[in-house]
Amino acid sequence: MAENFKRTLVTCALPYANGPIHIGHLAGVYVPADIYVRYLRLRGKEVLYVCGSDEHGVPITIKARQLGCSPQDIVDKYHNIIKDSFKALGINFDVYGRTSSKIHAQTASEFFKRLYDSGKFITRESEQYYDPEAKTFLADRYIVGTCPKCGSEGAYGDQCEKCGSTLSPEELINPKSKLSGAQPIKKKTTHWYLPLDRDEQWLRQWILEGHKEWRTNVYGQVKSWLDSGLQPRAVTRDLDWGVPVPVEGAEGKVLYVWFDAPIGYISNTKELLPDSWEKWWKSPDTKLVHFIGKDNIVFHCIVFPSMLKAYGDGFILPENVPANEFLNLEGDKISTSRNWAVWAHEYVQDFPGKEDALRYVLTANAPETKDNDFSWKDFQTRNNSELVAVFGNFVNRAVVLTHKYFGGKVPPVGTLQDIDRAALAEVPALKASLERNIETYHFREALKDAMGIARVGNKYISDTEPWKVAKEDMERTATILNVSLQLCAHLAVAFEPFTPFACARLRKMLDCNPSWDSISELGILEEGHQIGAAELLFTKVEDDQIEAQLAKLAASKAEHLAAEAAAAPVEPQKEEVTFEQFQAMDIRTATVLEAEKVPKTDKLLKLTIDTGIDRRTIVSGIAQYYSPEDMVGKQICILANLKPRMIKGIESKGMILMAAQKDGKMRFITPQEVVDNGAQVG
Ligand code: 2FM
Ligand code: ZN
Repeated sequence: MAENFKRTLVTCALPYANGPIHIGHLAGVYVPADIYVRYLRLRGKEVLYVCGSDEHGVPITIKARQLGCSPQDIVDKYHNIIKDSFKALGINFDVYGRTSSKIHAQTASEFFKRLYDSGKFITRESEQYYDPEAKTFLADRYIVGTCPKCGSEGAYGDQCEKCGSTLSPEELINPKSKLSGAQPIKKKTTHWYLPLDRDEQWLRQWILEGHKEWRTNVYGQVKSWLDSGLQPRAVTRDLDWGVPVPVEGAEGKVLYVWFDAPIGYISNTKELLPDSWEKWWKSPDTKLVHFIGKDNIVFHCIVFPSMLKAYGDGFILPENVPANEFLNLEGDKISTSRNWAVWAHEYVQDFPGKEDALRYVLTANAPETKDNDFSWKDFQTRNNSELVAVFGNFVNRAVVLTHKYFGGKVPPVGTLQDIDRAALAEVPALKASLERNIETYHFREALKDAMGIARVGNKYISDTEPWKVAKEDMERTATILNVSLQLCAHLAVAFEPFTPFACARLRKMLDCNPSWDSISELGILEEGHQIGAAELLFTKVEDDQIEAQLAKLAASKAEHLAAEAAAAPVEPQKEEVTFEQFQAMDIRTATVLEAEKVPKTDKLLKLTIDTGIDRRTIVSGIAQYYSPEDMVGKQICILANLKPRMIKGIESKGMILMAAQKDGKMRFITPQEVVDNGAQVG
């Protein structure tokens, strides 16, 4: 750690208050940041931990319109849900503010005004999309169309969520207003731009030369932006939700959400520390670290630093921006609109007392270098076979046996044998590795180090078998349990950044509060020290809990597919036919007499039907939708005079009329009431 810093300011990306947070947010940003902060605190460092809700931006206004309420109603609701989720998971920011606050409006306005007054912006008049029906400009997500990169429908004016490309509204094919569905027209408007192109040189120097240690994904993205040449970036929008642009002639304009949001870090600090916030933002003694997801890299490494530099006045720049990649869920991209997510507020309700388990699994599988996957099965396995079976089991055995043989008093260490010394000797190296890994933002590895200590303990107590030794050698039992308890105390500290709830229980059980430096010391717990009652550190995740979660996801998927199918356009009408052409088709009612699967095929059923005219065979591709039993006795409609065809060696005479649904499923057409076989349809 570069120890020339006196304090560390840790910020976490401000989550949008347009929905709850899910495991992707937690794994990407908040759990790693929390580990880092807890670690620094354990080491006695001065830390400030800042976050808050990002309450501006178009998605919030769109949601409000959809629900018929105000944007303020939306952000009030989600701000509280998000805040409570963090708290429930032990993520305790020093301040969790909001960008709709007064102090934020003042801070962001003042920031803009200073850049404006000192000529740091350029203005540009441009033609932008305007909805003639809703009489409003269509910023960012108010406009949708076909993605020019991947061709998928529903791409937004700022981004295609299918392929992840950053877009501008002009690039969309067939743009449509999200508000009215109208085709937008172009209308002139003026905006303020931050000329990022002017900053290219110092950004190169600062990051590409000066911060080669940044994560490869972060460094690579910055390099690619710089190599393709930076463009001036608009920092205002024509919208009515946001911080009003504080200059004359800017009526109906607000600051772009990505201009005001990072200033939120500053205003939230000000809210907490009105008199001393500057020491956190303007002192070279402060190390600033931004925890973010990969979609925020450009804003934190290029745009916000350019804003801070333009402002001057000694604002510091980040020392590191440890951005994570994305977390998938059960092999599929997490998606709010498809409800394919594990929501934090639902998790804490469904798994009370298992907050640590989520923190643990999200760290063990953290998407630090590449996208990673969360699966419920893996969650269960890691909880049951790592937290419960290794860490929890070891501590439980040590504490229970100490009560059983020594009345809960730490027994004398006595004479150490090689096996005792060997176990204890493993700890310092694991501790050093843990420190190195956390300080270089390798949290997955750091967790392995902490788990390494638990494994040492668990193996030690299994190998030394104090429950057997106690039958003949109480002195030796005392040594084993003394060593085991010291290892438990090491674990209470080493795991604190990862599983804080369990560590609080463990400290209570041991009735001690060891410091970071005491990890690996023998004698944290002195002989004769009375420990507390045994309590389970972790409990198993049962199969039915996992099944319930998988069923929840399956229901989301089914609901989404149904909604998607309902929204899909119906097939366009075919070319006109004449009445004579229609009359040429002999459509009849018929009844299925027998049905069987055509051997060696998945889709075909062989049906024997009574057409009223005759008894015949029709081979139909409906086996995916109906079983033979479903079909027998059913009345259907057939095209009777279709030229016979050989299908899999069977002569098929006619065709069953089917309705093809939008979701691709086929349903046969049956008369409302039973009619004669052979009745003509037309
Ligand atoms: O991507 C997001 O969720 C943004 N709301 C993050 C903002 S970070 C900061 F700049 F405020
Ligand atoms: Zn695309």
